[in-house]
Amino acid sequence: TLPRVYVTRQIPPEGLKILRESGQVQFELWDSDDVPVPRKELLEKVKGVDGLLCVLTEKIDAELLEAAGPSLKVVSTMSVGFDHLSLEELKKRGIHVGYTPDVLTDAVAELTVALLLTTSRRLIEATHEAKTGGWGTWRTLWLCGYELANSTVGILGLGRIGVAIAERLAPFKVKKFIYTDVAPRPELASTINAEYVSLDQLAKQSDFLALCCALTPETKEICNKDLFSKMKKTSIFINTSRGGVVNQEDLYEALSTGQIAAAGLDVTVPEPLPTSHPLFTLKNCVILPHIASASYTTRNAMSALAANNLLLGLRGEPMIKELKL
Ligand code: GLV
Ligand code: GLV
Repeated sequence: TLPRVYVTRQIPPEGLKILRESGQVQFELWDSDDVPVPRKELLEKVKGVDGLLCVLTEKIDAELLEAAGPSLKVVSTMSVGFDHLSLEELKKRGIHVGYTPDVLTDAVAELTVALLLTTSRRLIEATHEAKTGGWGTWRTLWLCGYELANSTVGILGLGRIGVAIAERLAPFKVKKFIYTDVAPRPELASTINAEYVSLDQLAKQSDFLALCCALTPETKEICNKDLFSKMKKTSIFINTSRGGVVNQEDLYEALSTGQIAAAGLDVTVPEPLPTSHPLFTLKNCVILPHIASASYTTRNAMSALAANNLLLGLRGEPMIKELKL
C-alpha cells in the first residue's frame, strides 16, 4: 500500500498535480484555502500518516507529532520560515523536514522594496488624501518623505533575501549597505558591498532598516525599546521576516512619539492583526497581510517544491531543500 499523506491546505495547483500524478502517495487534503484546518481536525487527520505537507499556520509541535505517531517520517512545509516547527521535537523523532527557500527570494525582495517605498514616500496616506478631499493645492512640504539616494540601508540578518533586496535597492543610489548577523558573512556581503557592524551601529546608522532574519530564540523581539531609541528620528523600519522579531508595543511607542519616522510591516503578532490594534491607527505605519511571497509564479513554485520535497523524503532520498536539524 502507498504511503499516506495529509496536506493541511488547498495548496496551489502545481504541487497538487505533482502529488496526484506521482502515483506514489495516497493523500488527503484540507480542501480550503480560506480557513486553516481546525486544530482538532488536524490532530485526527494526522493519525498514522507517513508524511505531512503543511503551511505556516500549522504548529508542528510535540502534541501533533504524538498524535501522528511513529509512522510519520517526513514533514514538508510550503514556506521558507520554520518558526512554526518544533525543530527539537522533529529531530528527536528522526523526522526529515523540507522547506522552500530560494524559489521565493525574488518575490519577497520585490515586495520588500515596494513596501519600503510605499512607507518612505507615504503612498497610502497620499492616495487617501487624493480621494478624500485633502488635496487642496500643491504644497511645498505636504506628504514629504525620505529618499533612498545617498542613504544608508541596514539589513538585520543577511541571507539570500537580504542580498536580493540590496541588489534591487542599489540602483536607487544607496550610499552604503551595512548588516549585522550572528557572525560576518563575507561571501554574501561582498556581492553587495555591505559592511558588517554591531546591532548597535546598525540601529544608529541606518536610514532604512530591513529585517531579513529568521525568527529564533536569538532574534525574538530583538527590535525593542532599546533598539528603537538608538535609531534616527528620520529612519524607516521595514519587516518582511516574522512579527515575533519585533516588540510591537515598543514599535507603537517609537512610531507614535516620533522616535522613528515610519514602519512598513508585512508580518505581525498575531496574524491576522486584529483590526482594533493600535498600530492600525498610525498614519506612519503601513501594514500588509503577510503577502511577501504572494506572486502566482512563486506560490506555485513553493507548492511544487514542497510536494517534491515530500515525495523525495518518503522515498528516503535527499530532498531538494531539506532543513538541517
Ligand atoms: C513566508 O512567510 C514563508 O515563510 O514562506
Ligand atoms: C513638480 O511637479 C515640479 O514641477 O517641480
